[in-house]
Amino acid sequence: MTGRTSLTIVLAAGEGTRMRSSMPKVLHPVAGQSLLAHVLRAVPHGAGASLAVVIGPDHQAVADEARRARGDAATFVQHERLGTAHAVLAAADAIARGADDLLVVFGDTPLISADTFERMRTPLKNGAALTVLGFRAEDPAGYGRLIVEDGRLIAIREEADASPEQKAITLCNAGVMAFDGRRALEILEKIGKARNKNEYYLPDAVAIVRELGLTATVIETSEDEVRGINTKTQLAEAEQVMQARLRRAALDAGVTMTAPETVYLAADTTFGNDVTIEPFVVIGPGVTIADGAVIHAFSHVVQASIGKNASVGPYARLRPGTSLGEGARIGNFVEAKAAVLEAGVKVNHLTYIGDTHIGAGANIGAGTITCNYDGFGKHKTTIGAGAFVGSNSSLVAPVKIGSGAYIGSGSVITRDVPDDALAVERGTQTTRDGWAARYREMKTRDKKPKKS
Ligand code: UD1
Ligand code: CA
Repeated sequence: MTGRTSLTIVLAAGEGTRMRSSMPKVLHPVAGQSLLAHVLRAVPHGAGASLAVVIGPDHQAVADEARRARGDAATFVQHERLGTAHAVLAAADAIARGADDLLVVFGDTPLISADTFERMRTPLKNGAALTVLGFRAEDPAGYGRLIVEDGRLIAIREEADASPEQKAITLCNAGVMAFDGRRALEILEKIGKARNKNEYYLPDAVAIVRELGLTATVIETSEDEVRGINTKTQLAEAEQVMQARLRRAALDAGVTMTAPETVYLAADTTFGNDVTIEPFVVIGPGVTIADGAVIHAFSHVVQASIGKNASVGPYARLRPGTSLGEGARIGNFVEAKAAVLEAGVKVNHLTYIGDTHIGAGANIGAGTITCNYDGFGKHKTTIGAGAFVGSNSSLVAPVKIGSGAYIGSGSVITRDVPDDALAVERGTQTTRDGWAARYREMKTRDKKPKKS
């Protein structure tokens, strides 16, 4: 928004008791990212936009997540849970610095969009002291009701304090508010304890704005956008809404999915042009998929980069740190972890590749295992460009297979193999001798081994 500064305060001090989890509520994930990270992505950022997150005592993990998601986040601790208005005032020092607009948002509404914050700031520009985000609730039970008279917002009534007529109102408080930043502290400090409660209610700001002769208004949005997450059921519902959005965005960006409703994406998945994702694929956080790549059915991919025209699966698992070069192929029942596969590498069947670098064009036969763990630590395997690893081989790390080397089927390789060498350490001698001889002959005729 041109010229106006903002302070956004995210309330995240709740325990989230109803989640029945030892993890603070706002750290639970939707589409591979914490509830808090989703909210922090949507709130105003950039020059002139500061951010404060109010956290509970002993919630260092929430502070860490806030700073991971937004390096410029300041955190404030609310030592006692005395209600939403009390929580906002935990950040009073930040409010006192006097931004033009003060936005208050709950940390448990991950579906909120940046556009909504912009819409809420417009009435402030035109002189309103407070904008409240409202929505038409299918079932308003539990929400604060917005009391509007002659088009003006005059109060918010919490469910417990509402009359039967007020309970029939379906226009509800989403919890997001935008204050005139210069008046906010004065308004918030006037909020007293709610009737019969030991809590300070942020919604009471509306009545105070009226008493001060200022204007409060409502901006409406859809219920889907402001779903607050209190339970695991609501977490699962939010996941459905988010997945529907992500699938739609992927389709709009040109990704081909024949059964998008079976594909799970992460909020940060990036796609090139002409990507195809077959049914029943699960994509976790940190995945980039380049132009022309195909992910076949029933594959699971997390923190991996899939190169141009690469092919994955069906039934493949790419774990964190996997990087596939252009045209690389990962076939069925293959697992890769911390593995860099250069262009054109083929790992087509039943294989584990971990802590490994494979040079361009190498072919890894069915059932190959990089034995990266010796019971104590992890070790690295390096396979040179154009190497051929025969089926059912075990490469016992740390080990280096030279470029162009040929490993016979059923080998257990425990020592480095030089470039262009033939290596068979164990296995069926007759097969080995036959293949080794044939390969040598092909090599001398400067031919590549027959394709498997
Ligand atoms: C609140 C609103 C209600 C609105 C609804 C929308 C109040 C009193 N009521 O009710 O009008 O319709 O949200 O979902 O505001 N929090 C703190 N410290 C506190 C209390 C709460 O940080 O002392 C945080 C929570 O972590 C949460 C948010 O504030 O992120 C909202 O609190 P919650 O208890 O969920 O409010 P609701 O009862 O849902
Ligand atoms: Ca809530």
